[in-house]
Amino acid sequence: MSAIKIENLSKVFGDFKALDDLSFEVSENCVFGFLGPNGAGKTTTIRMLVGLSRPTSGRIFIDGEEVVFGKTMVNNKFGYLPEQPAFYGWMTGEEYLSFIADLFLIKDKETEIKRVLTLVKLTDAKSRRIAGYSNGMKQRLGIAQALINKPKVLILDEPVSALDPIGRKEVLEILLDLKKDHTIFLSTHILSDVDRICDDVAILDHGKLITVAKLSELKNEYAAPVLEIEFDEDPKGVAEELRKEKWVQKVEQQGEIIRVWLKDEAVIDKNLPLKAVSKFNYGIVHYGMLQLQTEDLFMNLVGEDK
Ligand SMILES: Nc1ncnc2c1ncn2[C@@H]1O[C@H](COP(=O)(O)OP(=O)(O)OP(=O)(O)O)[C@@H](O)[C@H]1O
Ligand SMILES: [Mg+2]
Repeated sequence: MSAIKIENLSKVFGDFKALDDLSFEVSENCVFGFLGPNGAGKTTTIRMLVGLSRPTSGRIFIDGEEVVFGKTMVNNKFGYLPEQPAFYGWMTGEEYLSFIADLFLIKDKETEIKRVLTLVKLTDAKSRRIAGYSNGMKQRLGIAQALINKPKVLILDEPVSALDPIGRKEVLEILLDLKKDHTIFLSTHILSDVDRICDDVAILDHGKLITVAKLSELKNEYAAPVLEIEFDEDPKGVAEELRKEKWVQKVEQQGEIIRVWLKDEAVIDKNLPLKAVSKFNYGIVHYGMLQLQTEDLFMNLVGEDK
């Protein structure tokens, strides 16, 4: 069974379509990155996932149970960390968790509070007032409250976006630790976070799903060595010929430019691509490797011109 299943989910605010017919599934015990630029619709989706906002259309299932708007406070299906969590600064970390545990009708409060404090490495700070916590500590406390009901799925809206590199690393390490017992669904607009911890990703832009894939597959496709060849005229027939070569993964042509995704960069040393295209007698204006980084993967899929 999928940890999360989203079916044809849409959300309209007035005449603005914030989310357009989203469908995908999240498998169990994976870290799933929900990636998209500012305003893509990540928070809109997450608020519907946790029952805080009513879908205009579509259905959501978490661990097989349908999410019903407004009816999700007391269950053990998911824990939720909002985008900008608010705390009572005058409470200590421990008092805050006790307050949340009461909302969830947790029975053995003391044990559970101890458990979550250990998971997020806040045991030493439990008796300090939250007002004196760093942003990273507040975010870890936010994760602790999301864990109090032992949820199957952790839903985190930009858990590290506001943190400095150290705070970010601490939180990401905690999330990796939590992966063995939970499915983690996290939104972010920062690709390097995804790079560090995610198994699968969905990319959202302007309310539309652009792709859902294993991160490793996306990287293979978009971070593979790419050769770019520019000809002095439209090189008719060349792309078709290159596609037949066994060292070629994919070929794309835009006017005079051909891009060849290579299975292995070593073919360049053997001059195989050059030999293959020189048969055609077109003039070559430029011939060289494109350095596609994982950041480009995101930019390719979510270009500003889209
Ligand atoms: N209550 C609302 N009323 C009207 N428009 C809204 C409302 N909530 C969100 N929107 C719009 O929906 C779009 C998606 O917003 P959302 O907050 O889901 O984006 P996001 O992907 O979470 O962005 P960010 O990375 O900035 O957090 C935006 O254009 C936003 O202005
Ligand atoms: Mg958001």
